[in-house]
Amino acid sequence: MTKLWGGAFDKETDREVEVFTASIGLDERLWEVDIQGSIAHARMLGNQGIIGKSDASLIIEGLNGVKGDIQASLEKGVSPFDPKAEDIHSEIEKFLTQKIGAVAGRLHTARSRNDQVVTDVRLYLRAEIEKLDYELKGFQAWILKKAETSTEVVLPGLTHTQHAQPVSLAHHLLAYFWMFSRDRSRLADLKKRVNKMPLGSAALAGTPFPLDRNQTSTELGFSEPTENSLDAVSDRDFVIEYLSAASIIMMHLSRWADELILWSTPEFGFVKLDDSVTTGSSIMPQKKNPDVAELVRGKVGRVYGALMGALTLMKALPLSYHRDMQEDKTFLFEGVDTTLSSVRLMHLILRTAAFRTERMASSLKSDFSNATDLADFLVTQGMPFREAHEVSGRTVKFCVQNKKGIEDLSLKELQSIHPLYTEKVIELVKHVSVMNARKSEGGTGTAAVLEQIKKAEAGLSYN
Ligand code: ARG
Repeated sequence: MTKLWGGAFDKETDREVEVFTASIGLDERLWEVDIQGSIAHARMLGNQGIIGKSDASLIIEGLNGVKGDIQASLEKGVSPFDPKAEDIHSEIEKFLTQKIGAVAGRLHTARSRNDQVVTDVRLYLRAEIEKLDYELKGFQAWILKKAETSTEVVLPGLTHTQHAQPVSLAHHLLAYFWMFSRDRSRLADLKKRVNKMPLGSAALAGTPFPLDRNQTSTELGFSEPTENSLDAVSDRDFVIEYLSAASIIMMHLSRWADELILWSTPEFGFVKLDDSVTTGSSIMPQKKNPDVAELVRGKVGRVYGALMGALTLMKALPLSYHRDMQEDKTFLFEGVDTTLSSVRLMHLILRTAAFRTERMASSLKSDFSNATDLADFLVTQGMPFREAHEVSGRTVKFCVQNKKGIEDLSLKELQSIHPLYTEKVIELVKHVSVMNARKSEGGTGTAAVLEQIKKAEAGLSYN
């Protein structure tokens, strides 16, 4: 295998070393951004007179040709890449040489694979962040639409997995909308730091050639060139930041996945997952298992693992580039693939799910999630909250003894417990009233939820 760097070597590389050090199996997905970066670099070299204009044109034409060849091959389902190659950068350069001959050798002027690879990864990740953001936005749009039609659907809100106070389905779903909002704002923020252009840093120290780094940066759609060459070739913060944001996204998805798993049990029965997103058992014919949701929950481990891997990889590495950094792609690609597919699959599960609102309603019966409102009522009658809490507690005890819900009590029964109870209580302890009473901004009452939906809509249309 011809190397990019064989000049000073007397011996062939040991085959096992070649296999161990190769990254082609992993970084081949960078082929297109590698070509994109090379085209911008070649154009700038030509414009600056560092290489001849006609050589630059030949190289750019050649690179476009290589791009077409790779595309055609991939469309046929054949990998054009030699599995024995060292990495995608040497592979593309080999293709270019095959196409245009020795002039291809001028492309690597004032460039090192150290600034090349980090440029590739930044270009790749920028596009992946946009893809992920697009998926999250689509998911949010679904949540919003579903919320608009479920502001009156009441279900038990839980704390400690115990019935706490009734909430609307809209309010419940919207909680995830805001999680995704924060996720998207984290992505937008880290994208700013991804979007800087390292080319021109060369191996580590910059280059004597009179480059125009701004030109390359503009052509590649970066906001600006990186500020320090040593930092630029060895900075992988943006990989770690992405994996950190992705870990939080996965954590959010896992919370929802777990909730759906719970909600789809016969005991809850709040949701029926569609056949197209459940799988059966090889022995138990009745089973329709929530495997996709379970796998989303399980795959969180991959992304957390990738984050830990990337952090560990970079720990204590002195300046500047080290081959260790080649491993960053294992972690990054694992994170990118897992997160994108998990978001897509969770969206699919939810948009095909049937929400069983009658089960939500029936689960509220006699659940005492209206007990707080009894106490709140007594407070409006002048009783201190602590005493009201005690009276409401006694009312619950009365109900348990008489196998009733608070909403089943007659005025007579209520007044036998405390004379301050009035006719008003009968209406007020209905679960829908309890929900609607929570009108505070950000609360579950329909009026407040409609306001929340307005805010969500505005937020969604801005970005
Ligand atoms: N495949 C390498 C990587 O991903 C490219 C850079 C190689 N540079 C070097 N000095 N050996 O990091």
